[in-house]
Amino acid sequence: MLGLVLPSTLLQEQSHKLSLLLDLGAMLAREVELDALLSALSSRIAEALRAERATLYLVDDTTNELVSHVTTLPVIGQIRLPAGKGIAGYVAETGEVVNLRDASTDPRFFSEVDRRTGFRSKTMLTAPIRDSRRAIRGVVQVINRADGPFSTEDEAFLLALAAQVAQALEGTTLRPATGSSRGVSLRGPFNHIVGSSEPMRAVYEQIQRAASTDATVLLRGETGVGKGLFARAIHANSKKRAARELVTVDCTTLPPTLIEAELFGHEKGAFTGADRRVIGKVERAHEGTLFLDEVGELAPAVQAKLLRLVQERAFERVGGRSAQHTDVRIVAATHRDLEAMVSRAEFRQDLFYRLRVVEITIPPLRSRGADEVLRLCEHFLAMYARRHGRGDMELTASARRTLGEHDWPGNVRELEHAIERAVVIAPAARIESAHLGLPVTRARSSSEGPALVHGVHLPMGLSLAEVERRYVAATLAHEHGNVTRTAQSLGISRNRLKRKKG
Ligand SMILES: Nc1ncnc2c1ncn2[C@@H]1O[C@H](COP(=O)(O)OP(=O)(O)OP(=O)(O)O)[C@@H](O)[C@H]1O
Ligand SMILES: [Mg+2]
Repeated sequence: MLGLVLPSTLLQEQSHKLSLLLDLGAMLAREVELDALLSALSSRIAEALRAERATLYLVDDTTNELVSHVTTLPVIGQIRLPAGKGIAGYVAETGEVVNLRDASTDPRFFSEVDRRTGFRSKTMLTAPIRDSRRAIRGVVQVINRADGPFSTEDEAFLLALAAQVAQALEGTTLRPATGSSRGVSLRGPFNHIVGSSEPMRAVYEQIQRAASTDATVLLRGETGVGKGLFARAIHANSKKRAARELVTVDCTTLPPTLIEAELFGHEKGAFTGADRRVIGKVERAHEGTLFLDEVGELAPAVQAKLLRLVQERAFERVGGRSAQHTDVRIVAATHRDLEAMVSRAEFRQDLFYRLRVVEITIPPLRSRGADEVLRLCEHFLAMYARRHGRGDMELTASARRTLGEHDWPGNVRELEHAIERAVVIAPAARIESAHLGLPVTRARSSSEGPALVHGVHLPMGLSLAEVERRYVAATLAHEHGNVTRTAQSLGISRNRLKRKKG
């Protein structure tokens, strides 16, 4: 008798598949760790294809091995396949889709995997995961369909899914902080950026758009909001430059004379002790990214030289006579009110305009909502509990309340420190409010005046533009990111609001 499939089962299966394709974006927004994401994904794939097991393998950039992410049996642990080994290896090398009725009789079959997993592979469907440049990033493999061999329709579905996985891997800011060339290295967490609130999503979008270009980016935002983190995200997500260096120049730490040499290098004999030619950070960043951190602190003399670099990508080594050229993308960051500095002639206006080709403002933590604060707390709690060898720890209800009520003038950095401190000092696994070292009710110094108006942080000394920006950001957060309602509340058009958001 023919294996007839009931229409209702078929329909159910179709809708399963469709919802999986549609869900991927949402899963990405939720899952922070690469492994968690891929695990969740592979069990959903197995379900959608009625397969016994699904495995996602990714190419490890550093070793060229295929590394598995299996969910169905977590105890098995990771499988590392040498390049070209097994059917997965074959697909990773050739990019072909391979659909087998009996994998175990295929000459390419690598029986070691079955031996380790305890599965007996029979029907098997394997498809490549290709990025937009058609490079193969990994493969996705399903085995043992519940009702006969995999169909050509299954092949198309798996390919479509693989394309989405590739896009997800590519198109996200969620990359490792210390990644190698092509982005995903398989060690450590997928990303260190936590947050899915509306204002943060808007930031991710801007970061992604900026990363795909060579435009100069100015990152703004209060201290501790994550500017350094996002500078790295821009670099890591730039296809062209991610394989090269991200070179950071901290503009706060060095006096002007030294910073010039640090930036541009110097020739032999340029000054006493300069006994050889030294290459500066600008040259080191060639074909990569130059990150000018705290650019608002630069002395006027250095600002002028920087202007030339930003404008023409040209510079001179200290003591040198000829102009050098370099190909760098520039990302700058500051928590300072540059408009006010320009108006006081402390910062060059021409440099300011050159730096803010793309301006991205990272919202303060207090405007991201209490959920996000708690998610960050959980993230740092897990991280520091692991680092300090404290096992599983948890926050008591009172600690959560204190965390939710605090307004975080020091933003994520302040939160990170509060959690680390609590992890270290809490005598047991439960973190109480008192361990956090946060004021229970917020006291402000009287000289600051009424700095908090409905949760907007407006200390004296801000420029009108900055006040406006903060107020707009706070209103937007208050309206949960709803642009129409925010525009209505501010009495301006949506377009004008979008321009203000930058
Ligand atoms: N969204 C986030 N998810 C996880 N960690 C974060 C996030 N934002 C910031 N951090 C962490 O918070 C700390 C402060 O971030 P970072 O140094 O990037 O801030 P910053 O804006 O550069 O501050 P400053 O202006 O003081 O230099 C870092 O340890 C960073 O890793
Ligand atoms: Mg910083």
